[in-house]
Amino acid sequence: MSVRAVTNLARSSITLASTRRLGVTSTLSLCNFTRTTTNTLQSLVAVHKKPQHSQQRRTMATTTSATTTTAPVPFRTHSPQPDAAPSTPLTHVFFHVPTSTWTYLVVDPSTRKAAAVDSVLDFDPQSNSVSTETADGLLAFARQQRIEIVKILETHAHADHLTGAAYLQHQLAAAAAPGTTGAVVPIGAYSSIRETQAHFAKLYDVPMTELEGAFDELYDEGSEIEIGDLKGQVWHLPGHTECSAGYVFGDAVYTGDSVLLPSIGSARVDFPAGSASRLFASSQRLLSLPPHVRLFSGHHYAASPTFEGGNRCSATVGEQRELNKHFKEGVASQEFVRMREERDRELNEPRLLHQSLQVNIRAGRLPKGQDGRSYLRLPIKAPAGI
Ligand SMILES: [Fe+2]
Repeated sequence: MSVRAVTNLARSSITLASTRRLGVTSTLSLCNFTRTTTNTLQSLVAVHKKPQHSQQRRTMATTTSATTTTAPVPFRTHSPQPDAAPSTPLTHVFFHVPTSTWTYLVVDPSTRKAAAVDSVLDFDPQSNSVSTETADGLLAFARQQRIEIVKILETHAHADHLTGAAYLQHQLAAAAAPGTTGAVVPIGAYSSIRETQAHFAKLYDVPMTELEGAFDELYDEGSEIEIGDLKGQVWHLPGHTECSAGYVFGDAVYTGDSVLLPSIGSARVDFPAGSASRLFASSQRLLSLPPHVRLFSGHHYAASPTFEGGNRCSATVGEQRELNKHFKEGVASQEFVRMREERDRELNEPRLLHQSLQVNIRAGRLPKGQDGRSYLRLPIKAPAGI
């Protein structure tokens, strides 16, 4: 069943019973109890924070945050060329192996202020445990480099990893000097993430009141954003999701999943409001930039062919026009749409689909049950009559 099919399911939310799972009592709810051969059950699954990280969180909240975390070495650092356009950042690049996700620390070299783009929480689906090694590493690196994170940006509501946005925000506030008010570092996303929130709030039975204010800044097409002295612009790049955006700073664009690396080509479009034709149009907008502009991608997959040597996070517009598997020059929109839709019909759900969406529409906050613990809903496919 495609992701669209799963997420478009009508819901009835009939409470069935209580079940004991993972040592806690959870409510089992029924979702989409239709009379087809395959039904979808939805259960609550407890989410745990690994004890060592709970301890670490407490320590970090009362001292100056993650002093014991070793700063990771970035996968790569892209410095602006001497002849780069104004507002081209210094970019430190980090790779999250379990979800193949790139996180970018986009730095204004003159003020050392930065934005964290598409940060990640660690999630172990076997034990339903959240941990924060990756996000702590990013914070430790920023601290070591005397970089001040002043913005936390999401390129879209990800369906394959949990965002670290709220955790970063919390830790940055906790690390503010005692006695200072410590301005909250805003979490920003494209404004149509509200529609994404509304859609999944229905599917996962989340009260909309819980989602209000989850994102501190909502951008529109052409919104201007500042990181220190850098001035950037938000581009709406729908297709992969409706709320997909790119952040354009000088000769660098953080594209999310709107254009992937040349050997991978494009991202799936079978999420609600996804559209192959709109993704093609978004890609063409990016590929109309000057050839030297660098497009930083949201993911890299180890199994893909290795034009990039298997380890690149970005390609220039010129490289993408020449080499992108799906978007290179000469590919027509119709051809792309046919290919993309055919491929999506054969794709499995992302491994962390339900976990990611329920957390990411909350900008990275875990939902809380009445007992104060965290739970996620898990739609289950099952034969009729069960
Ligand atoms: Fe994505």
